[in-house]
Formats: sequence, C-alpha cells, structure tokens
Amino acid sequence: MTMARESFQMVSSLVRRETSMVYDEGKEYLVEARLLPLAVAAGCTVDEYCRKLSIDFAERRKALDALTINETSWFRDQGPYQAFTDTMLPALLQARSTTRRLRIWSAACSSGQEAYSIAMLLDQHLPAGWSAEILATDVSTAMLARVKTGRYSQVEMNRGMPATSLVRYFTRVGSEWEIVPKLKAMVTTRHLNLSAPYLGVPTFDLVLLRNVLIYFDKTTKADILRRMLSHVASDGYLLLGSSESTLDLPPDLAPRWRREQIGRVQAHRPTGVPAPRPSPASSLVPTGA
Ligand SMILES: C[S@@+](CC[C@H](N)C(=O)[O-])C[C@H]1O[C@@H](n2cnc3c(N)ncnc32)[C@H](O)[C@@H]1O
Repeated sequence: MTMARESFQMVSSLVRRETSMVYDEGKEYLVEARLLPLAVAAGCTVDEYCRKLSIDFAERRKALDALTINETSWFRDQGPYQAFTDTMLPALLQARSTTRRLRIWSAACSSGQEAYSIAMLLDQHLPAGWSAEILATDVSTAMLARVKTGRYSQVEMNRGMPATSLVRYFTRVGSEWEIVPKLKAMVTTRHLNLSAPYLGVPTFDLVLLRNVLIYFDKTTKADILRRMLSHVASDGYLLLGSSESTLDLPPDLAPRWRREQIGRVQAHRPTGVPAPRPSPASSLVPTGA
C-alpha cells in the first residue's frame, strides 16, 4: 500500500459525509485503485490528489463518482422482476384502475439497468390506456448522465440482457447499444442522496432500493427506511437487494414495515402503524445535553 494513512482517512470521511457510504480501514487498496487513474490524469500522486480534493470541487465530484460502487446488471437476480410481473403488477393494475397510472422509483439506479429493465416489463405488460413514470435517482452525477444517454457497451449487454429484448429495445450505435426513445421517455433522472431529505419526492407504487443499504451503517439504513415510509403507497411495495432486509431495524421502526413473500423474493410493505410519539421523559431532556 502506497497511499498515506491521512489521505485514506480524509477520503473515507469525505465519502461518508457526502454519501454515507462506509469505507472502513482495510479498504485502502480499493480507494487507491479507484483514485489512481484520476491522480495520473491530474499529473500527481494519489496523496497529492487527495490534498487537492479539499480545495477543488470539480475534482471532488469526480473522486466521489469513482468511489461509489456502481455494480449492476439487467434483470438483476431475476426473482424481483418475476415477482413484479406475476404478482405486484396485476395487484397494482387492479388497485389503480381509476387513475390508470403507475409510479416507480429506482433509488440508487447506477447506470440505469434497473430502471430500464422495469420499463421493458411495463412496455410488455401495461394495458393500453395506462401510463407509467419511472424516477431514477443516484448520488453519482456520472451515473445519472449514463442513464440519460441510455448507451451500453457489449460487455454490459452481456450481463443479463435477453436476446429478444436486445433486438426489440436497442439500436446499435458504433460499438454500443442505445435504448429506444419510447423507453427513455418513461425514465426521468434526478440527483438524490438517500441519506439527506427527499424534498419534492412523491409517493410510489413500487420502490426499488436494491444493493445500496449494504454500504451504510445501521443508523443510516434505519433513517432511510424510516423516510421511505412516506414514499411507498399504503398498498405499494418496496424491494431491497437479495442480501438486504428489514430484520435488524430499531423497535420503533420494525412494526412499520411488514415482509411479504412473493415467489422467490421478500417484498416490504408499509403496515400503516403510526410512528411512536416521543415519550414525555425524552421531551424533558434539555437540548444540547
Ligand atoms: C451497487 S449499485 C446498485 C444499483 C442497482 N440498484 C442494482 O441493484 O443493480 C449502488 C448505487 O448506489 C449509489 N449510492 C451510493 N450511496 C448513495 C446515496 N447516499 N444516495 C443515493 N445513491 C447512492 C451508487 O452511486 C451506486 O450507483
């Protein structure tokens, strides 16, 4: 390891402050590998580059983009998408028969494979006369730019894209594949930090909050799941990643989510249990104590 300890500590607290992602000691090699190409491009060493980050906003943005983990694929894990077409979508079509409109949020969307996978299923299964809006948000501006462009390399296409959907929903542009305009039109992007307030974010029929909670500590995870209660419709669904769950939530929050097994996945649904009122004892604690 060549990166200085102070550089690593400075970068890990920057990432924590800006995204809540935790880079514990032992991840120096990962931080260094991700920052090295940026340092080389800036003509300096990784340590010099880290010092630059405290004064250079544009470079800080690039470093944060490089340090977010953007691993994703088409129809990732399959089970959630199967559960969506088999169970969630039919239930929502019945429940929304008056408005004929569905709202879906891909929170932590990475380069957009999750949002566009859902868009493909909606294109195939949404009855005529219905509309659907998909909001794709992420803390990484570089990832949001990729969602907007909707272009993917052959290597990315090889990760889960069925041949029939490739032909149906993409056009070849040079060495890349670009998603067709009708699916692009369904997806709106927005910069959103999951660990900050969700200003102006509406309620959704389905929220995909997948493979992101694993990067946060327990308190941040609970804060996000508490805030999500206001953004999942009372008869809507929240889907987490396959290694994420609501099992370790604090006692005030646990009863506010219930787990429902749908095929091979567990969906999470708001129970409608109200937030507990602060106890009189806690309101007597002087501020600043
Ligand atoms: C591993 S990817 C998951 C992508 C997709 N949800 C999936 O399951 O395939 C995690 C994404 O979370 C984003 N992320 C990390 N911290 C975040 C935060 N505080 N707010 C919003 N997005 C965040 C990263 O930029 C990255 O794109």
